[in-house]
Amino acid sequence: MTLRITNLGKHYGEAPVFENVTLEVQPGEFVAIVGESGVGKSTLLNCMAGLDTWDQGTVMHDGTDIGALDGEACALWRRRHVGFVFQAFHVLPHLDVAQNVSLPLMLLGQKKDDGRVAHMLDAVGLPGMGARLPQTLSGGQLQRVAIARALVHRPALLLADEPTGNLDPTTAAKVMELLIGQTREHGASLVLVTHSESAAARADRLLHLTAGGIR
Ligand SMILES: Nc1ncnc2c1ncn2[C@@H]1O[C@H](COP(=O)(O)OP(=O)(O)O)[C@@H](O)[C@H]1O
Ligand SMILES: [Mg+2]
Repeated sequence: MTLRITNLGKHYGEAPVFENVTLEVQPGEFVAIVGESGVGKSTLLNCMAGLDTWDQGTVMHDGTDIGALDGEACALWRRRHVGFVFQAFHVLPHLDVAQNVSLPLMLLGQKKDDGRVAHMLDAVGLPGMGARLPQTLSGGQLQRVAIARALVHRPALLLADEPTGNLDPTTAAKVMELLIGQTREHGASLVLVTHSESAAARADRLLHLTAGGIR
């Protein structure tokens, strides 16, 4: 999926978050975004998924103008095409790990696939932990549940907000392999917000977000 953002701008009241953000991400491409805390990286990622609104500019995915979709159409589009790793995980506390990971498949009306869920848990280094409840997991383990959930339906667009922020270097490298594998093997577009130099070094392009734009 080609993501094309043109002249995107957002502000809260008088205060601009970012302006003049223009970028394009091709299928199979991995773009990393860096920038100071509070510069709007999470906000920009949310806009890419239609999870937040903006004041100027457009967000296009192939032929779809995300800003023109109503809430329900946008949710359906996102379900089908987007895998999102939230900075704060947003793992659902009343579902066990396997149920959290299979949520995207369930929402797409696909039949229960325990094998695929188990495979994803193995891939993120959480083998056999499907029956655990989120409250029994560490921050790093919750982050990996969120990553497994974002990948399980093989989305065309992967958006990840500091996905290795809570992981030790070895686990972080493993998770990066998994995210990059999705782009290289399945042609997904990957946009990753990160403070990690080693994660950013793996990207095809590294972009710096500032109040005035992205470059
Ligand atoms: N609901 C809100 N109202 C006002 N300001 C907000 C709101 N949400 C975020 N912001 C501000 O928007 C800016 C960008 O936030 P964020 O996207 O989380 O930055 P980053 O991810 O780069 O650290 C910050 O200065 C933050 O204070
Ligand atoms: Mg952030």
